[in-house]
Amino acid sequence: MIEVIQSMRERLLQTNSPSLNHSGVSGERLTSRLIEIAKIGLTVEGGSHRLGYSSEEAQAKGLVKKWINEMGLEVRMDGAGNIIGRLEGKKGLPAIACGSHIDSVPNGGHFDGVLGVLAALEVLEAWKYIGFQPTVPVEVIVFADEEGTRFNTGYIGSSAMTGKAEWNFLSRLTDQEDYRFADIARVAGITQESFTNAARSADELSAYIEVHIEQGTQLERNEQPVGIVTGIAGSSNLELKFIGMAAHAGNTPMKGRRDALVAASHFISTLPELALSVSDTAVATVGQLHVYPNGSNVVPGEVRLSVDLRDIYSNSIQRLMEKVKSRATDIERLFNVQVEWTDTLQIAPTLMDQTLIELQEKTIKKNGMIPVHLPSGAGHDAMVMGRHIPTAMFFTRSLGGISHHPAEWSDLSDCMQTVHVLKGFLERLSSDLAERGNI
Ligand code: HGY
Ligand code: MN
Ligand code: MN
Repeated sequence: MIEVIQSMRERLLQTNSPSLNHSGVSGERLTSRLIEIAKIGLTVEGGSHRLGYSSEEAQAKGLVKKWINEMGLEVRMDGAGNIIGRLEGKKGLPAIACGSHIDSVPNGGHFDGVLGVLAALEVLEAWKYIGFQPTVPVEVIVFADEEGTRFNTGYIGSSAMTGKAEWNFLSRLTDQEDYRFADIARVAGITQESFTNAARSADELSAYIEVHIEQGTQLERNEQPVGIVTGIAGSSNLELKFIGMAAHAGNTPMKGRRDALVAASHFISTLPELALSVSDTAVATVGQLHVYPNGSNVVPGEVRLSVDLRDIYSNSIQRLMEKVKSRATDIERLFNVQVEWTDTLQIAPTLMDQTLIELQEKTIKKNGMIPVHLPSGAGHDAMVMGRHIPTAMFFTRSLGGISHHPAEWSDLSDCMQTVHVLKGFLERLSSDLAERGNI
């Protein structure tokens, strides 16, 4: 493990550009914080394992709270588990919010979400060093459980903050050990009342800006370190249960078996063609599959699997959902099984704010780079915040587009370039807001 951390540190420092260490922005501090977070939930393959509402996520959020505290800023955890640090502005106008998430997928990378949180912190640290105070307040937010791995959902903290999360719906969901969301939340100190009280009115915040790794290869192909997100694909997640009949593997003839895994396998193998049939940007993934009773000499009686459907167009997600459900009905008949499904997540595609995009363009050009506009196939808290207040995202170049994998990587110089762009953007937005009062 120590070697993994040591080599990550060396690789970051090798990819630093000393000329980017100015105006209070420190590559050394960014490196050491990326490393500190990477150590929490480090897997044997050198990845990150910090599931939403887990002790690892709590530990990482505690570290961010400590860093915000050490800056002399007020910091709190809201009733949904979001961390909110606040730098007061010269004027008491609604705040600009900036942040991301710190939870990960199982065995994920070390930049997904984390870079967005640390980039926001780095800007506040730089402002402190150079004695800059923004005209309007700026908040750093760590959203809880963005990935939604445990309950096949996602964006829980941002949905709670925008009042879009439904406690009753969430508390009915169970994870693979049959724990309910309410049980896991309670262990994390969250109740229905505290969760509901986490909702903030839209007039408390004037805009949300999120830095995130691209998790794709467009910036690499355009040879640019930083990109501007135009919009974020929508998601519809399902959980399907294939119910057959467990039986003896040796003494049960092939004819007449009600094998839940054979049925599920046929369903899964047809998903790619269904996605391609609705549009060339639609995607469909089965990421989780659990076989019951999971005995090597038992015909599987039941299979539970997750289905993740996405597209940048709402109507094709709907068409894909209908095709998936009708395919499941065909499978019931063909394999003499029953298929039950639960809708676990529905988020429509979200466009980013055009006024903020224009300011992003100016800032990127001012930093000597060429603006690259790109959509996000990956989901982010910005897709939830963007339905509540004007929202924008900066992407940082990802090596080979690899993500949700231990090999996920962004060079330190690209991370630093992003911090400088974020810093300039927030400074300009803060003064614009002070003049105009809104976006
Ligand atoms: O699944 C996503 O796109 C994000 O990583 N939560
Ligand atoms: Mn992710
Ligand atoms: Mn993410």
